[in-house]
Amino acid sequence: MNKILVAYFSASGQTMRLAKTIAEVSGGDIYEITPTQKYTSLDLDWHDSNSRSSVEMRKPDSRPSISNLKPNLDGYDSVFIGFPIWWYEAPRIIQTFLESFEWSGKNIVVFATSGGSDLGQSVEILKKSCNANFKDAKVLSSSTNSASIKNGWRAWVFELCKFRLITRAISLYSAKFSRIFFLNVCDSFVNTAGLADL
Ligand SMILES: Cc1cc2nc3c(=O)[nH]c(=O)nc-3n(C[C@H](O)[C@H](O)[C@H](O)COP(=O)(O)O)c2cc1C
Repeated sequence: MNKILVAYFSASGQTMRLAKTIAEVSGGDIYEITPTQKYTSLDLDWHDSNSRSSVEMRKPDSRPSISNLKPNLDGYDSVFIGFPIWWYEAPRIIQTFLESFEWSGKNIVVFATSGGSDLGQSVEILKKSCNANFKDAKVLSSSTNSASIKNGWRAWVFELCKFRLITRAISLYSAKFSRIFFLNVCDSFVNTAGLADL
């Protein structure tokens, strides 16, 4: 069965919280993109033009390495990718991640947190790093993490995956044989009717 992966990088926890909500609503697996060298608060100081993050973001070809085992993407047809906005873009480690895999036939949905900026050119830049099908993108200001905002994100994820979530939920109430049959019929219908979501 095709599955969803929620992959994220978070330097100070905001994006991680959002990633957990998205994984919970979508029923996806979660994977943290962990830098080999963790970012310290000095590294993250955007007032310092010599800080590690400032230097990396000034260099478009900078590719910080990832320490943890990269997930096997074979079983996933859709991947949510989350990050904090740095200098109006995705941190370079997201390009390291994207360039580590073959993406043809897979969907990517971008989500981000920021101090108030929108996604800027982030998605356009990331598209150059892989041949995935970019489906949608959304950004959250980290100062507005209220319950109603959380519900807004839940609604967004549900809207993106609704056919998948509804068919999977109904199948839980079916016997094993009819469950497989039902999922196949639903998947064919959704694909044929052009309704395929994530
Ligand atoms: C190096 C650096 C650059 C940043 N650049 C921006 C920016 O261009 N626009 C913005 O709105 N916020 C910017 N921020 C704020 C982060 O996007 C925001 O705090 C985010 O929610 C942090 O997510 P995290 O806790 O998952 O790391 C920047 C933060 C850092 C550390």
